[in-house]
Order: sequence, then C-alpha cells, then structure tokens
Amino acid sequence: MSNEPLRVGVLGSGRIVRRVMKDFHRGQGYVLSAVASRSLERAQTAAREYGAPLAFGSYEELAACKEVDLVYIAVPHPFHCPIALQMMNAGKHVICEKPMALNEGQAQAMVDCAREKGVFLMEAMWTRFFPATKKMVSLVKGGAIGQINHVYAVFSGAAAYDPASRAFDPALGGGALLDIGVYPLMAATQLLGWDIESAQGACQYAPSGVDMRLAAQLKFPGGATAQIMGGMDACAPSHLLVYGSEGYILMEDFWHPTAFTLCGADGRREEYRFRPENEGFHYEFEEAARCVREGLRESPLMPHEESIAVSRVCDSLRRQAGIVYPGE
Ligand SMILES: NC(=O)c1ccc[n+]([C@@H]2O[C@H](COP(=O)([O-])OP(=O)(O)OC[C@H]3O[C@@H](n4cnc5c(N)ncnc54)[C@H](OP(=O)(O)O)[C@@H]3O)[C@@H](O)[C@H]2O)c1
Repeated sequence: MSNEPLRVGVLGSGRIVRRVMKDFHRGQGYVLSAVASRSLERAQTAAREYGAPLAFGSYEELAACKEVDLVYIAVPHPFHCPIALQMMNAGKHVICEKPMALNEGQAQAMVDCAREKGVFLMEAMWTRFFPATKKMVSLVKGGAIGQINHVYAVFSGAAAYDPASRAFDPALGGGALLDIGVYPLMAATQLLGWDIESAQGACQYAPSGVDMRLAAQLKFPGGATAQIMGGMDACAPSHLLVYGSEGYILMEDFWHPTAFTLCGADGRREEYRFRPENEGFHYEFEEAARCVREGLRESPLMPHEESIAVSRVCDSLRRQAGIVYPGE
C-alpha cells in the first residue's frame, strides 16, 4: 500500500471542471498533476488557473503520461465510455462523471475493461461521499426508522430551453433523466438496492426530443416502492424523503447535503447538521484515493453493479419514452 498521493489528471475543461476545481484542494490523499483538453490553449489556461504542473492538448497525451495515476473524465455522456476505455487500456484508474455511460452496454463494457486491466473505476456520483449522506445511510441501514417501505426523491430546476446546450442536445446525451434524474434514481437504489423489479415512467419532451422532465415509479423485491423525478422545467426543492415503518427522514438538497431530519413515529425529532465545505466535490476524490491506496478496484459506496443496473433502468425508461440517442 503506497502512501504517495494519487496523481490526478483532469480530462475536459468545461463547466463541471470549473466547479470541481474550486473544491479539489480541500481533500487529502491526492494531487492535481495534469489537465487535458482538445485544445492546448484551453489546457494551458486551465492548468495555470488550477495549479496543474502539466497541460496536454489531446486526451491521448494524458493517457500516455507516466505522471498521472487516475483520470477524472468530465466530458458529455456519449464520450464517457470510449474515453474511459482508452484511459483504462493505458493503465489509468478512472473517476467518470455521472451518468457513468449512455446505456447499459457501455456501462458493462467499462466495468469489464476495469476488471480485465485491474484498474479502479468509479462513477462520480459525488452525493454518495458526503458525510451527511454516509450518516443518513448508516442510520437507515441500522434500522433507525424501521423497515424502509418507500423513497421519494426529486431533482428539478428551471432551465430555459436552449437547443445549443448540452442538456438539450440529443447528440450529447441530453435530457433530464441522464443529467439529473440519475440523482433521485441512485438515492433510491442506494437505500433499496439495485435489483429493481419494475420501473414505469412518464415523460414530457423538450422541443429537441429529449426528456424535459421524467417521473418514474419503481418497485423493489420485498415490496418497497419509490417515486423519482428529474426535471428541467419545474422549479422545486430537491428533497429526499425516506419512509420507514417507524419514522421518516427528510433530506433537503439531497444531491449535495449538509443536513437532514429524522422523525420517529413516536414524535421524536433529531436534527443532523454538517459543516458545509463549499460544494463538496473533494469527497469523491478522497474516496477514490482511499480505495486505490487500499488496493480496491471499486468503491463499496458506488459499486460497479449498481452503475450498470442504473444504466439498465435508464435504458428501460428511455425506451418507454421513445428516446434514442444518435448511434444507439
Ligand atoms: N457532478 C455534477 O454535479 C455534474 C454537474 C454538471 C455536469 N456533470 C457531468 O459532467 C459531464 C460534463 O458536463 P459539463 O456540463 O461540464 O459539459 P460541458 O461544459 O458541455 O463540456 C465539458 C467538456 O467536455 C469536453 N468535450 C470533449 N468532447 C466534446 C464534444 N464533442 N462536445 C463538447 N464537449 C466536449 C470539452 O472540453 P475540451 O474541449 O477542453 O476538451 C468540454 O469543455 C456530463 O457527463 C455531466 O453529466 C456533473
């Protein structure tokens, strides 16, 4: 087990990278080694801004770089799989932005490659790694609100329709489900497991044909149910509610939580508060660094099989809505 910090290469120079880099320095166990962009100029600007010693004008150069152990892939969804395969085939560990892949076939191919190459692969479902999420999950799994019978989770906001935006472009994997619907979906699978019995969706379309809003009901073995919604045209608080046989948990802004409330059926009310640390993107890098240090090839908090199963459910919901991406 090496105590050297994990050397991270960032791939892409878009919106999420800018946000993540504001938090990157808050974590421990890893360092920023390189930034790669399709444009050398953008890579150099980003490297200067974020303090990376190396800048590459192509993703291939990052794959070949001996001073990078792990690549953080932050490009639009359709490129996650091909780029992750390229990086893993070059021996790099990978954190890949959510959704891990455009569809189940791609997610499976990524996991197969990680296993074959013996490298670490993790979907960047950053919500998982917050102290507040970990505490909430441990309370739920420890029986603090009895048996979990239902999960309700919504992630929705109001985004003006813009055909030029990645979020609405079918060629870039646009649509509410893959962009933000995966958060409520994965909040449900984190608590109820990913062996989903059935998923039925209802969808409203954006003018470009992708889902503007997608709501779904899920049924799990044993009888638990979930209702989830991801929306780009419906302004609402993004809440998670966990309904147990002996109480419930309410977590506001559950996709980057700093607090939640546990209410018992007996009337007790417990407030849990955590120190906010800007947006909290560093937790996922700390988790990856810990896993790699301990020789793990997947994070127990974000298992490969769950990423594949969630892709499968998204495929099914998209099939029901008739949403097919170019090339699928
Ligand atoms: N965790 C979160 O909270 C969160 C939030 C937002 C987005 N995301 C995820 O992060 C990923 C990127 O989202 P984003 O909003 O950062 O996207 P974005 O700004 O549109 O693009 C990200 C970068 O991808 C690179 N890229 C490579 N091939 C591209 C292509 N053919 N077209 C456009 N860009 C291409 C570009 O960097 P270069 O040209 O410099 O190489 C671009 O700057 C998505 O999968 C999204 O789901 C996660």
